[in-house]
Amino acid sequence: MERTFLMIKPDGVQRGLIGEIVARFERKGLQLVAAKFMKVDAALAECHYEEHKGKPFYPPLIDFITSSPVFAMVWQGDNVIALTRALIGKTNAVEAAPGTIRSDYAVHTNFNLIHGSDSPENAAREIGIFFRPEELVDYEQMT
Ligand code: CMP
Repeated sequence: MERTFLMIKPDGVQRGLIGEIVARFERKGLQLVAAKFMKVDAALAECHYEEHKGKPFYPPLIDFITSSPVFAMVWQGDNVIALTRALIGKTNAVEAAPGTIRSDYAVHTNFNLIHGSDSPENAAREIGIFFRPEELVDYEQMT
């Protein structure tokens, strides 16, 4: 069983796509274990995106992610990292496969609706900076 961190970014929240995006992961059969509607402050944004520091898109990325609320989540399931990244689609909406979230709803790389962890190490790191351990709700999935 694997866990991942997913975050619907300010553009997804502003466009009213939280329900639509969450529904795709629910329909897939993945299990939601934590969720938080929140604003990301500069310190949290810089910690989350530390691997991108120094890149040209870093300053606008930090401005964007701190600009209005996000919907942060933890999901679990077998191969949840690969499965959620497949459902999300490539970073650049132009390259995202038809039927993926980014292909269906995004136009621009800077406004690509959702972030998903890309490795077990990053998932653990990102879950740890957004959630306290007691905020992860363990329960048996009945279906
Ligand atoms: P995300 O998965 O949140 O990780 C970093 C974000 O930076 C990425 O999605 C994009 O929204 C944004 N970004 C902008 N330009 C680029 C780029 N050239 N390569 C990767 N990410 C980019």
